Amino acid sequence: MSIVVEGSSSPRVRYAAERLKVAIGDKLNVTLRIAPGLAREGYRIESREPKHVLLTASDDSGLLYGALDLARRAQNDQPLATHDAPVFTLRGAVIGLQKTFILPGRKVYEYPYTPELFPFFYDKSFWSEYLDYVCDQRMNVLFLWNGHPFSSLVKVPGYEYALEVTEDVFRHNVEMFHHITKEADRRGVWVVQNFYSLLLPKPFADHHGLQTQLTAPTPESSDYTRKALTEFVKEYPHVGIMPCLGEALQGIDNQRYWLCDVILSGIKDGMKLAGLTEEPPVVIRTHATDLRKIMPDALKVYKNLYTEAKFNGESLTTHEPRGVRQQVHLAMSTLGSTHVSNVHILANLEPFRYGAQRFIQKCVQASRDRLGCKGLHLYPLAYWAWPDAPDIASPPLKQIDRDWMWYEAWARYAWNPDHDPASDRAYWTSRLTTVYGSPNAAEHILDALNDAGECAPRILRRFGITEGNRQTMALGMLLDQLVDPSKYRPFEELWESQSPPGERLQEYAERTWKNLPHDGETPPQIVAEIIAFSDKAVKAIDQASAFVTRNREEFERVRNDVYCIQAMSLNYAEKANAALCVLRYGYSKDVKDMRQAREHLAKSLEHYRALAKLTDKAYHFANTMQTSQRRIPVAGGMDGQPANYHWRQLVSLYETELEEFDDRVKRIESGKGDDIDETGIKRWPKASMQVVGDVGEMYEVQFGAAVFADQENAIRSVAPEIAGLTGIRFAKDRPYAPVEIEVAEPVYVLVGYFKSKDAAWRQPPDLETDADAEDLGGTEPVLQNAIAIDGKLPPLDIYALRYNAGRQKLELRGEGAFVIVGVVPQSAALKKRDAGRGV
Ligand code: SER
Repeated sequence: MSIVVEGSSSPRVRYAAERLKVAIGDKLNVTLRIAPGLAREGYRIESREPKHVLLTASDDSGLLYGALDLARRAQNDQPLATHDAPVFTLRGAVIGLQKTFILPGRKVYEYPYTPELFPFFYDKSFWSEYLDYVCDQRMNVLFLWNGHPFSSLVKVPGYEYALEVTEDVFRHNVEMFHHITKEADRRGVWVVQNFYSLLLPKPFADHHGLQTQLTAPTPESSDYTRKALTEFVKEYPHVGIMPCLGEALQGIDNQRYWLCDVILSGIKDGMKLAGLTEEPPVVIRTHATDLRKIMPDALKVYKNLYTEAKFNGESLTTHEPRGVRQQVHLAMSTLGSTHVSNVHILANLEPFRYGAQRFIQKCVQASRDRLGCKGLHLYPLAYWAWPDAPDIASPPLKQIDRDWMWYEAWARYAWNPDHDPASDRAYWTSRLTTVYGSPNAAEHILDALNDAGECAPRILRRFGITEGNRQTMALGMLLDQLVDPSKYRPFEELWESQSPPGERLQEYAERTWKNLPHDGETPPQIVAEIIAFSDKAVKAIDQASAFVTRNREEFERVRNDVYCIQAMSLNYAEKANAALCVLRYGYSKDVKDMRQAREHLAKSLEHYRALAKLTDKAYHFANTMQTSQRRIPVAGGMDGQPANYHWRQLVSLYETELEEFDDRVKRIESGKGDDIDETGIKRWPKASMQVVGDVGEMYEVQFGAAVFADQENAIRSVAPEIAGLTGIRFAKDRPYAPVEIEVAEPVYVLVGYFKSKDAAWRQPPDLETDADAEDLGGTEPVLQNAIAIDGKLPPLDIYALRYNAGRQKLELRGEGAFVIVGVVPQSAALKKRDAGRGV
């Protein structure tokens, strides 16, 4: 018996032959032949004489995928003759070289490649197992994500001091990176390295007295980065490059320059040095930029460009993406290059398993049909904690094992989005039968996973603040976040792009009160659906139990996940009902509505307690991003200290919420009303502060004071918390030059942003597109609608930004006017409130 290869002797085809040999032993004679005429990566298997099979393909990857298919068919005694080809050109998996915490003295995304931080990177047996797995899924790309990988992987002439790792680690990194790319290539997998802009290696930044993350290029940062790209292409000519043109780097002009004159120019210099005649592929993210304004210029200087945009932001919410994000996808996919759908961080699915193949199939179809994508780029479910799963288990579960169905479903539909439902169901029940031992178990488990998987997308898209990983959905939400999301910087794209048309809670309450017709998906509809789906899922998983004959321990974990999803759904359902009652009370002023809200709130707490109990021994944490960038329901940890990452840590928060709500209902019942009495509110304490230099003038924030140096607009009414503080004012119509202040203690600078999207007004930074925004704090207002100002100025929200003692330059991101209304010590307790002025 033999395997004969004709027309190629590449390592990839040798790998294909090896895999085939292991799988079929001496069962068959096989000829693997390269022949023109088949689709890219496609293959044909023909059964010639008995026991002789001809496998043809037009390229090495086609032979590889054909060999894998043939091996499977021979092992399962299925008919051998077939032909197939993938629908999506790029099918990629992601590994984050990222952590759940921020390193001391560093900023977000800054993790050098070292054995301490990323042991798996140095483990050849890990790579061999993982890359075999990726290859078995017929995925052909592996994206590695990091903030600034170059200073771990190349030495840049003239910038030797920029290297971030020791010489030993550097040598090891180079060896491993070559090893990984070579081993990946054998398996038909192309490695792509991602990086953010404008990030610098820390030793380089320190040497030049710069921050590691810059909002605009400097001559030395441009020169270094260009040369780093050159060295990277020279050293690793077959690795793809994936720039993210933000988050730190601001402004389209800066980003256009950075792509065309720094990154692409550096790559072209590298091509010359490496003797490459073909441009290495570059995959550009649409995140934190508007690529529509940059691609035309980029295509003038470089042809081999791919583009990538997020499918549903940083969550999984709908297979009907629409709105502005759909437009971004369509603008990219109509450029003619290959456009990739990025299933990014799954902030609403974490930490549970997700095996809803029915939902996943529709998402892949939507990527193709609604967005025009030809590629898929799939994140792991627990991105920041690769490679371990979040379950409490000894030894830890590996994500590729635990989440096999997650990977297999996306990869299967990226190869072919159109499997018909009947044969598809047969496929999945057979896969689940292999795992759990019986077809009966498999049928029920599949139903449970599909139904459970309908809940999280619905909950977030109808009730959430954001699809970004600023929100961890499984940890619940505060009632106030449901009733009055405007305090928490709600991200409109969540319901305008990443959701079918429908009504938010506020809109629904208003329309109901006014007897107006409803439109699209409504909150009560979602409440009913998540209760029904999670109930069906629990019934199905319970029915499966008696039939399970294999992998009982894992089955019990799956079952617990389904229970958790039910508890989470009921927690949200009751809380959404409570919110609707509170919103109705806003119109009716009928205390019965508040009493009813209280009942729902008490029930939602019971479900939360149940969830905390179910997860207590099952999970290490609810989410893998545990830093202070996480804001909803509450902030994560700072300075590398984890906090608020487990349900049990938040039980008392929700208990206090219920107690406070109870008090509120009692106040209303006793006739004291619900309006806030401002007479008891004191001014926040003043910190001593001096403006240094001639930018900005100090003034007292009080009735009649002008808020700009060059305008009349005077204060008509001001919240008592800030009345009497010392503000700093600037000319409204001149660009802001950073003001410098001298302070004796750590302070909060109270910055007022006007609530208007007009370009005249500076916007507070968004964690959705700028993960470093939380560096100074101040990503949510502490005092909403704080001042009413003459001249029809928009309402003003106050944000508190942290600064250390000493001389401080107040560099605020963005452009346009804003005001500073005070400086207070960080020891001051700033109680969040809506002061209701100017609205
Ligand atoms: N929000 C970040 C990004 O989109 C990290 O996932 O790149």
